[in-house]
Amino acid sequence: MDHDRLIRDLSDFLRIPSVSTLAAHDNDCRAAARWVAADLKRLGCTEVELLGSEHHPVVWGVGPHVPDAPTLLVYGHYDVQPPDPLDQWTTPPFEPTIRDGKLFARGSADDKGQVFCLLRAIEACDSPPVNFRFLIEGEEEFGSKVLFDLLKREPERVDADAVLVADMSYVAPGWPSVYTALRGIYYAEITVRTAKTDLHSGEYGGAAPNAHEALVRTLARLKKKNGRIRIPGLYEAVKLPGKAERAAWKKLPFSEKDFLKKRIGGKALTGLEKYTVLERLWAMPTFEIHGIMGGFTGQGAKTVIPAEATAKVSLRLVPDQKVKTVGKQLAAAVQRAAPAYADATVRFVHGADPAEVDVSRPVFALLDQAFREVVGRGTVPVRAGGSIPVVPALGQRGAPVVLTGVGLPDDRLHAPDEKLDLQQLWDGIDVFKRFFTLLAENGNDVKQERRAKTSREDV
Ligand code: BES
Ligand code: MN
Ligand code: MN
Repeated sequence: MDHDRLIRDLSDFLRIPSVSTLAAHDNDCRAAARWVAADLKRLGCTEVELLGSEHHPVVWGVGPHVPDAPTLLVYGHYDVQPPDPLDQWTTPPFEPTIRDGKLFARGSADDKGQVFCLLRAIEACDSPPVNFRFLIEGEEEFGSKVLFDLLKREPERVDADAVLVADMSYVAPGWPSVYTALRGIYYAEITVRTAKTDLHSGEYGGAAPNAHEALVRTLARLKKKNGRIRIPGLYEAVKLPGKAERAAWKKLPFSEKDFLKKRIGGKALTGLEKYTVLERLWAMPTFEIHGIMGGFTGQGAKTVIPAEATAKVSLRLVPDQKVKTVGKQLAAAVQRAAPAYADATVRFVHGADPAEVDVSRPVFALLDQAFREVVGRGTVPVRAGGSIPVVPALGQRGAPVVLTGVGLPDDRLHAPDEKLDLQQLWDGIDVFKRFFTLLAENGNDVKQERRAKTSREDV
């Protein structure tokens, strides 16, 4: 394929600032959806629709019918995270730029570049070798509500012999991965109120309660210094990885020292001391504070005691934790942790259950073979610290959900200078092209296994 043409086309897609969480970008999200729809039409899709248009639409597509071939559902997202802090980008986030073989732009790795990779892999086949279905959504970065609602109304959209998601990375350069689990998430705002209004800090200071102080005391009580989260019951549902899985993780090309030095650039790691870093990232729940709002943060100085303060927080969840239970546990813990003089409330923002994938099903051997043939190494099973909310729903009709990707660990997702290595993109196109061909050649095995599995689960 003509690489210059591909870079031009991908850059057009990346230039659309489809930030799903900011209302000011609603039209851009629609433009990105239309870009995907137009591309699907060019690929020969017989049906292309924008669904659930009450908010950022889901792009639905049906590829040309291939008799007897298996059906593969391709999932991805065209929305991106906000690009701020803008001043920390070497070149602007929505002006895709190549430096040193890497394409820098918001969405280059997460996930527009990877959606593009899958679409070009289909184009690279003489004709689509399997029955493709597409669900490319625009709300992944804040909870996937439109797609959840759609799949509740029309669950048959995920009827397929396999689902393919390319929204993650290799575990290390040269080491393609397949994911056995994803963490879930519980995102919330914790608000404390301590007075009916803000107060002069000279007139009232010393005797009046301070909302920011109440909030940081509350937050500080929710985690111990050794990393243990102090939410009663939180760890009860945590299913620790088995011996074999933990032993396999120890053999991965991952160095805790490099992780701290190169990827974090900090002084020390934090978290549960008794667990390795990969166990902390992949197999344990977290509690993070994303931002604190309220009081005075403007220019200059203002002497005020804030009456209200809010923290945006989230917990990552691991198998077998559930959003519902964790919500109740957090609410109770906040009530207990807040000072008696403060009114504390927890407002749920979005949530997703964790997901587990059985990578022993036949389709995974085909992905492994495709990577092995093209990049010289098969897929290593790993887990993801991040979340993709709809993954459990994508598999709800029995299709195996293949979670993989062509990113690299240093792609800086959600951060300034997000990038995609172009070689990863070119390799990815070849890998997925090979995967589609293998899937067509082994269609009966994959179809039969899926049918057997689905009927067993129906009874
Ligand atoms: N692609 C990521 C998820 C991911 C990141 C998986 C790294 C594996 C490794 C996805 O776009 C994402 O960022 N998801 C959000 C979901 C949330 C906002 C509901 C996340 O994990 O924060
Ligand atoms: Mn993503
Ligand atoms: Mn993301």
